[in-house]
Amino acid sequence: QDPRIPKIASSIRVIPDFPKPGIMFQDITTLLLDTEAFKDTVDIFVERYKGKGISVVAGVEARGFIFGPPIALAIGAKFVPMRKPKKLPGKVISEEYSLEYGTDKIEMHVGAVEPGERAIIIDDLIATGGTLAAAIRLLERVGVTIAECACVIELPVLKGREKLGETPLFILVTSDAA
Ligand code: PRP
Ligand code: MG
Repeated sequence: QDPRIPKIASSIRVIPDFPKPGIMFQDITTLLLDTEAFKDTVDIFVERYKGKGISVVAGVEARGFIFGPPIALAIGAKFVPMRKPKKLPGKVISEEYSLEYGTDKIEMHVGAVEPGERAIIIDDLIATGGTLAAAIRLLERVGVTIAECACVIELPVLKGREKLGETPLFILVTSDAA
């Protein structure tokens, strides 16, 4: 295992019963306050994806917007935001999904990506996998190949990985919280 991982793991704060009873919220804001942990997190992803022909880093609003852009800049890829509904001003395509708590939709601008591009999808956490599965569907609908999904945290008990089909998932930290 990468020697930088334990410090990243311990920088993530867990808040019980947020946003509702029974949810152990994985709070990455404390990781962002730890300058070494934040840098190491971005560096690990950059080392993995640099020079791999990735032209698109797609990030899912909101927490995928934190980790995606520094990775995109460092590997020389464009950053494509996947936004919550009715935020993007241009023509969009959208995908609905069910969440650990509720249902939602993500949208992407038409023309943000070209068929044949290679993408990675970045988010902070995979829980049920609904969000990443929707992001995969969005990009695949427009002919983009998804090399991998990458998250800081996985909650393996929720089996979200199984929703991603053939798309590989790379994670730094697992949590037994659900
Ligand atoms: C959280 C988290 C992931 C998603 C994971 O986002 O940041 O995006 O849930 O859940 P899933 O694997 O069950 O789909 P959330 O939609 O709560 O909002 P935020 O990122 O805007 O804070
Ligand atoms: Mg999110």
